Amino acid sequence: MRRPLVMGNWKMHGTRGSVRRLLKEIAVAGESQAAEVVVCPAFVHLQQALNLCEGTAVSVGAQDCSHMTAGAFTGEVSAEMLLDLGCRWVILGHSERRQYHGESDDLVAAKLAAALQARLLPVVCVGETQEEREAGEAEYVVSRQLRGALEAQAGLQQVVVAYEPVWAIGTGLTATPAEAQDMHAFIRAQLGEIAGADPDAMRVLYGGSVKAANAAELFGQPDIDGALVGGASLDANEFRQIVAAAGGPQ
Ligand code: PGA
Repeated sequence: MRRPLVMGNWKMHGTRGSVRRLLKEIAVAGESQAAEVVVCPAFVHLQQALNLCEGTAVSVGAQDCSHMTAGAFTGEVSAEMLLDLGCRWVILGHSERRQYHGESDDLVAAKLAAALQARLLPVVCVGETQEEREAGEAEYVVSRQLRGALEAQAGLQQVVVAYEPVWAIGTGLTATPAEAQDMHAFIRAQLGEIAGADPDAMRVLYGGSVKAANAAELFGQPDIDGALVGGASLDANEFRQIVAAAGGPQ
């Protein structure tokens, strides 16, 4: 049985005030959900988020980490540093990092190796662009990203995959539940072909304009194990409804 997982990717948003307000409503002591809940604020807000989530069922993750362990890499943050701070999770290979920071499959693979070595729980993002989908290349692209990151790694059972079609991120367009399910089933089949991965034990999240209004239908698909939520995770009420759709309070 795969436990549902709902992650909020706050991207480059927030102030210390808004982090406090949001987490007061999201991370409530004594409240637990059927779904595992994780929030991923910007690096500078991680410590504050960790403090506010202490004693609650909400975990904290980062949005990226370096592929290097330590050294003269100005501006970088290592997986070890994140673990040392108290983070449990890290998002890797988000399409915005691939698009705006030129992250290749090889770099994502190196970051994944660093995260696994530090025993962080990695969420590897994959997904095709609109042009790639229209050209009939969606599965090819997702397979290349998946294999590029995961093949030849040890400890794959800890890895979560997030399918985020680039055309659905922040656009208000969502893959239909059937479209998303098809790709999730494809991803699970691909995971089955990657040595060391047990596809039935690994969680595959959907991401791209997930909101309270469409979450339940997406989560109703057999291969969708939760969501990576961007915009809607900045609204406590929306986010709580998405978490509830993934299983409800315990
Ligand atoms: P969105 O972002 O929910 O705002 O579309 C999802 C993501 O980029 O992880």
